[in-house]
Amino acid sequence: MSLNKLQAIVLAAGQATRFKTGNTKLIEKICGQEMIVFSAKLLEKLNIPTIFVVGYQKEIIENLVSKHTCCKPQFIHQEKQLGTGHAVACTKDLWNQKNILILNGDVPLVTQKIIEKLYKKHTESDAAISFVVSHYTGSDHAYGRVVEDEKSIRIVEAKDFNQDIYDEQCCINAGIYLIKTTFLKSCINKLTTKNASQEFYLTDLVQMACKKNLKVVTSYAPFDRIRGINDFEELWAAEQIKRSEIIKHWMKHGVRFHLAQKIHIDIGVQIGVGSTIGSGVHLLGNTAIGQNCNIRKFSTLENATIEDNVEIFPNTIIRDSYVSKHAKIGPFAHIHSESTIEQHAVVGNFVEVKKSTVGSHTKAKHLTYLGNATIGSKVNIGAGTITCNHDGVKKHQTIIQDNAYVGSNNTLVAPITIGKNSFTAAGSTITKDTPSNSLAIGRTRQINKENYAQKLLEKLKARSAFINKKNETAHVITPKKIQEKEL
Ligand code: UD1
Ligand code: CA
Repeated sequence: MSLNKLQAIVLAAGQATRFKTGNTKLIEKICGQEMIVFSAKLLEKLNIPTIFVVGYQKEIIENLVSKHTCCKPQFIHQEKQLGTGHAVACTKDLWNQKNILILNGDVPLVTQKIIEKLYKKHTESDAAISFVVSHYTGSDHAYGRVVEDEKSIRIVEAKDFNQDIYDEQCCINAGIYLIKTTFLKSCINKLTTKNASQEFYLTDLVQMACKKNLKVVTSYAPFDRIRGINDFEELWAAEQIKRSEIIKHWMKHGVRFHLAQKIHIDIGVQIGVGSTIGSGVHLLGNTAIGQNCNIRKFSTLENATIEDNVEIFPNTIIRDSYVSKHAKIGPFAHIHSESTIEQHAVVGNFVEVKKSTVGSHTKAKHLTYLGNATIGSKVNIGAGTITCNHDGVKKHQTIIQDNAYVGSNNTLVAPITIGKNSFTAAGSTITKDTPSNSLAIGRTRQINKENYAQKLLEKLKARSAFINKKNETAHVITPKKIQEKEL
């Protein structure tokens, strides 16, 4: 459906006092995407030229919207936040289409379908003003109520409502309007601040149209799609809805979830057919998971690319990194800062990989730190190996070439290269480059003193008796000694 002769205004200047954070609420994320980006992307998808009314922390909002949209949105500054009616009035020099779609910036879950339905009803009935309504059963002071009889219709803000809101069955105003520009031009300057909030209410336009005998049309939408986000509780509720929508989407695309209610997935995530996601897993940012992967419980993947047939064991963290097919990672592994794990590699328990490449078929299975390292293929990294990449001032590279065997508990002091097919002995501190095909031993040699055990035992007992005696005399403190001590 094409929406013609239309421009949009998004109201995004408010201070969000109910959030109490001191920041604009429009930058709070829902499943990884800032609230204001939802409406920006939707309007871009619908190809509607859009004006954003910005005010409080306007630079942040302008940057976000510009970053996430390709079309060039316009920004209008509302210096003082005098109400939604005033915000719309600030844009009037830019009105150049037959109809104007107005969206509150804090209604992120609104869909294309809702806008299209509103447009259809508005244009077909040639209304002066059309707006989206819904049902809300809460008794709190949120949402304008639609008060309607045969002859009139108006929106009364919750604060100005004198009857008991809880008992009222009337619809609420969703904050999404489609208005004929001629009507808007004739009425926008007639709004007043005679209300409980002493603000210019955009919603008063409904009553104005009605009084002029102009057509007013409402379009119904499910409440979950038009929830306004005024505090953290409402943000949480909206995120629950979005999250379950994302999970259901991937279920339909052949992804298995264990205890789906405990899983979080951001909007930008992709998951291949046949993959399984465990309980408590968080898939964040632009994470992309291939086919037939198994991401086991309590793992967190953020901006991670995982190729097909990868096994990620529980409690693993992968950030800004790449894992190639058939690799096995974890449990309790931490891979981050642009690391790459190549095909069939194994990165096991308590292994941290930072800014490093682990080659194909290489194994680092236990208790290891690999930082600023380039590790070839078919390398063995023994348990407890540490790359000492930082000298106190600068970071240095460790290179371990193909087929090398690094023994357990090695300390590799960078910059350093371990050559192809080389061995390093267990417990070594390796400070010099190791040529290919060699064995490096960097530790004190062991001496065995034969039959020395009994002698050692006697020596130890004698030393212990001597120390005990010394302590006994030292602990007898005379009153005189105490006095001296205190002085
Ligand atoms: C508004 C509606 C209410 C509706 C509800 C739906 C009015 C008077 N009330 O109430 O009928 O049920 O939305 O969610 O419109 N803003 C500005 N400049 C301002 C004031 C607000 O840009 O001077 C922006 C805010 O940033 C926000 C949007 O307008 O994105 C709505 O403002 P908000 O204060 O949240 O309005 P509600 O009290 O929720
Ligand atoms: Ca609101």
